[in-house]
Amino acid sequence: MTMEAIHITDVAPRDGLQNQPVHLGANDKLRLVQLLAAAGVRSVEATSFVSPKAVPQMADAAELLPLVHAALPALRCSVLVPNLKGLERAHAAGAAEIAVVLSATETMNQRNINMGLEQATEVSERTLAAAQALGLRTRAYVAVAFDCPFEGETPLAEVLRLAQRMQAAGAGEIVIADTIGSASPGMVKQRMRVLAEAIAPERLAIHLHDTRGMAVANAWAALEAGIRRFDASVGGIGGCPFAPGAAGNLATEDLVLMAERSGFATGISLDGLLEAIDFAQERLQRPLGGRAIAWLRRQRENTNSSNNTSPETATT
Ligand code: COA
Ligand code: ZN
Repeated sequence: MTMEAIHITDVAPRDGLQNQPVHLGANDKLRLVQLLAAAGVRSVEATSFVSPKAVPQMADAAELLPLVHAALPALRCSVLVPNLKGLERAHAAGAAEIAVVLSATETMNQRNINMGLEQATEVSERTLAAAQALGLRTRAYVAVAFDCPFEGETPLAEVLRLAQRMQAAGAGEIVIADTIGSASPGMVKQRMRVLAEAIAPERLAIHLHDTRGMAVANAWAALEAGIRRFDASVGGIGGCPFAPGAAGNLATEDLVLMAERSGFATGISLDGLLEAIDFAQERLQRPLGGRAIAWLRRQRENTNSSNNTSPETATT
């Protein structure tokens, strides 16, 4: 039986690393992306071209992106840009794909990018248009699409309105983000079903965080609603510096394990992801990994020890 495929964009190099107390250098970031690609990840969000004062961890974007493109020409590689200046910098660094970030509430836009909702929407539209004129692929985040840390539950009608504006502006992919990880499966299923009626499934993605331990359940709810495109972060590294309470992302390894066990092909190797987690953990100097990490490590140890056992001892 052929398994239906899902597409995963690993956002650890951007959403993950932007919030870490330990700042990785460009060479370590490149190594992380290489390990993700070696694991079978075909799409990453590599960095962001934002103000280095706002996010010092991403200050090396213009240095990193050409290194990634040179090392991994076949990898689909998106970069986050908050405005036209970010697009200009990304284009100069050779970007082939950009993502704009629009939050669905007034206050979150103010806190994140220092613009009101209407201004942020217009800036996102102008940035999408300029990127398309340059021949770039585009994504548009609709952030705080479930709850906002400042305004409470975000009205679905507002999420739908903004997603449709991003669609009309030509965004290749519209990414509905649970920025603070407060969504629950029922809410995800209901909202994604409504959004999927307005936006073609190949253009609709979901971005989840695991603050309340529900990210995998939410991913399953999204699958049930017909969503086949997911953001996830290897090792669950993540969080937004401007959204209080936002904890780690949906871990890529949890999503891969759940999807593969449920009949969906990801093309990603769990052993390969463990290599990336081991590397990131050592560099970031803290334990990483999603819900399944202890089990995945035990599986690897068991496989390694049975591979190391000679046939004679194996039978005694
Ligand atoms: N990259 C680098 N520098 C930028 C920039 C960008 N994309 N956009 C603006 N700047 C610079 C300006 O050139 C200016 O520099 P100067 O002080 O040397 O003259 C300075 O930042 C202020 O510009 P301004 O347009 O007034 O921006 P701001 O202070 O209102 O900040 C953003 C707006 C969007 C640049 C800033 O809030 C930001 O980078 N936010 C990113 C948040 C983020 O990454 N969140 C997590 C991901 S969702
Ligand atoms: Zn996020």
